[in-house]
Amino acid sequence: MEIVLFGATGMVGSRIAAEAAARGHTVTAVSRSGGQPDGEGVQVSPAVGDAANPAQVAELVKNADVVAAALVPPRDGSDPRAPFAQLYADFMAGVRDGGAPRTVIVGGAGTLLVAPGTRLVDLPDFPAMYKPEALAHGDVLDALRADPTLPTWTYISPAPEVGPGERTGSFRLGVGDEILPDASSISAEDYAVAFVDELESGAHPRERLSVAQTA
Ligand SMILES: NC(=O)c1ccc[n+]([C@@H]2O[C@H](COP(=O)([O-])OP(=O)(O)OC[C@H]3O[C@@H](n4cnc5c(N)ncnc54)[C@H](OP(=O)(O)O)[C@@H]3O)[C@@H](O)[C@H]2O)c1
Repeated sequence: MEIVLFGATGMVGSRIAAEAAARGHTVTAVSRSGGQPDGEGVQVSPAVGDAANPAQVAELVKNADVVAAALVPPRDGSDPRAPFAQLYADFMAGVRDGGAPRTVIVGGAGTLLVAPGTRLVDLPDFPAMYKPEALAHGDVLDALRADPTLPTWTYISPAPEVGPGERTGSFRLGVGDEILPDASSISAEDYAVAFVDELESGAHPRERLSVAQTA
């Protein structure tokens, strides 16, 4: 498949790039810097592009079978909610203009439901430093769900803790907003396995998924 991945040099994006390339897909690895994803020998084509520029996005995705996004909200201490919502609005406009059929998005864990009507981010012990990013992700998911005219998307939340680790190939996949029982962590490598599974299958159009460690 032809995969165009935005945010391909990041912590999560690099693992997605490596997993997709290892499965034999053709990966265009987009970031504003145009660098190579982390990891040795990852066979991708780096490209310069800004997800906030719909014309650039449209040009980059025009031959894609599927688009992937591992974009990040501003982490400079400013309120990331409005800028991240605008970033994804511009990005999805570009995807639509480029005619790409599907987009899979790296989401956040904070808006997963721990009980009816209660999100992880609402709990008193949710770390304050991650709250703005969690809420920004919630806004993006709300905007995706609110507009049925958007190109097909799938939004995949990691478990609350995600970072570099081991690729075991074992994980649990949840469908919908409820957090998986005892979900606590997932390696970025295993998250990437679940993510590339969805890139390949397109099994969950306009749905939110979550990925967590095996019980
Ligand atoms: N438990 C959780 O909920 C959890 C935990 C960790 C991460 N996450 C989410 O996972 C996502 C990825 O996080 P990360 O830690 O991997 O981020 P990261 O390491 O900062 O990587 C971000 C990537 O996006 C690129 N990028 C940023 N703005 C861009 C733009 N306008 N156009 C094109 N590329 C752009 C960056 O490259 P350039 O700067 O060169 O453009 C980089 O490749 C985020 O949405 C984050 O919230 C969730």
